[in-house]
Amino acid sequence: MNNDIERILISQDQIEQREDELATELTAKYQDQFPIVVSVLTGAMIFTSDMLKRLNFKLNVDLVDVSSYAGANSTGEVELVQDLKSNVAGRPVLVMEDIIDTGRTLAYLVQLLKDRGAKSVEVCALLDKPERREVEIDGDYVGFKTPNEFLVGYGLDYNNLYRNLPYVGILKRSVYEQ
Ligand code: PRP
Repeated sequence: MNNDIERILISQDQIEQREDELATELTAKYQDQFPIVVSVLTGAMIFTSDMLKRLNFKLNVDLVDVSSYAGANSTGEVELVQDLKSNVAGRPVLVMEDIIDTGRTLAYLVQLLKDRGAKSVEVCALLDKPERREVEIDGDYVGFKTPNEFLVGYGLDYNNLYRNLPYVGILKRSVYEQ
């Protein structure tokens, strides 16, 4: 698996250090807010779980599956594959994402949460690829801005592979151009 990686872009240590910083910020902000933390499946699973252990305030956890990709290129379509279990009306919501790319997934999800009456909606994303943005939306808490490379690992996949790499790496071209 590691042989398919061109190089490591963000190491496990760098991720963990940044997660500590983000968690400190979030813990200050959400101390008495009792938010619902919404993890966007499947990519955000690892980031969410590592962050949850660092968030020192009362919260609920929920999952949503919103899908925007097919293979290497975004189709531009967003689909609600699995809905939340919680009622978000009147509750602050903190959305956890692995990456903001075109912004379509988040734009859709944030609008959905607002339409359902969430008290507030903020987004915490590990990675942000601003060059790829098609919809105007930004994360409120962002781990790393990244260049426009094919990234995998730490939740990010290619054809549902490489999610379990403990770092964020650049996938070799030969892997997806064959
Ligand atoms: C990826 C990623 C984000 C989204 C970002 O999810 O996890 O949710 O795409 O892309 P966007 O900004 O262009 O919308 P994907 O739909 O590939 O599903 P996955 O998390 O199951 O891999």
